[in-house]
Amino acid sequence: MRHIMVLNSKGGCGKSTLATNLASYFAAEAEQKVALVDYDPQASSLDWLARRPASRPEIVGVAGFEEGMKHLPRSADVVIVDAPARSHGPELTDLVRHAETILVPVLPSTIDMQAAAKFLDELKKVGKVERKGVKIAVVANRVREYTLIYEELDAFLEKLRVPYIGVLREAQNYVRAYTRGLGVWELPEYLAWPDWEQWEPLLKWVESKRSQP
Ligand SMILES: Nc1ncnc2c1ncn2[C@@H]1O[C@H](COP(=O)(O)OP(=O)(O)OP(=O)(O)O)[C@@H](O)[C@H]1O
Ligand SMILES: [Mg+2]
Repeated sequence: MRHIMVLNSKGGCGKSTLATNLASYFAAEAEQKVALVDYDPQASSLDWLARRPASRPEIVGVAGFEEGMKHLPRSADVVIVDAPARSHGPELTDLVRHAETILVPVLPSTIDMQAAAKFLDELKKVGKVERKGVKIAVVANRVREYTLIYEELDAFLEKLRVPYIGVLREAQNYVRAYTRGLGVWELPEYLAWPDWEQWEPLLKWVESKRSQP
């Protein structure tokens, strides 16, 4: 069973967007049994799941903030974990216990880059991360090409000593897909092909041994 967590203490950087799209990818494209664990009392991922049409490949939702991982279906191939913002200290250490792969989305904004630098420093000091018991990667999210701030984000993420595995554009497709309980995989090709292309390197890393301890 794979455990992939989307984590960043900064609010609004795209954790739930990445988590729901990963869940949709593994269920609809990779045809795996997927559980989506939402550790955020805000429960965005579970809200997304409640919107999901019954005709789409099933994803099992688990409210991690209520019951912990106790109710995780044993048959799941992939567990995607959506973590809450403002996770620090013992709570962060506890969250990291539940993953062997962590994706950190970062927005093109100075505030977000500063917050990400601090957060990654804290994350690297968690015992399990120091022992290389978990692999971390960063993802640029809500990017608008040819903007100065994207260039800054790109340079910032390149310099971190953490794999920089993908760049996702700012797109209404993510907003539309969320509203319908879908991932961008499940939107028509003529609309979503640029997003499918952008997810390729990210998924390649996630599906490779490099993302596993
Ligand atoms: N690539 C994108 N393109 C367009 N909108 C996006 C993209 N990624 C995220 N968003 C939007 O940005 C907002 C914040 O995203 P999201 O809820 O995924 O972040 P979060 O990190 O889970 O937030 P929180 O810390 O509150 O849990 C949402 O309105 C979402 O639809
Ligand atoms: Mg969220």
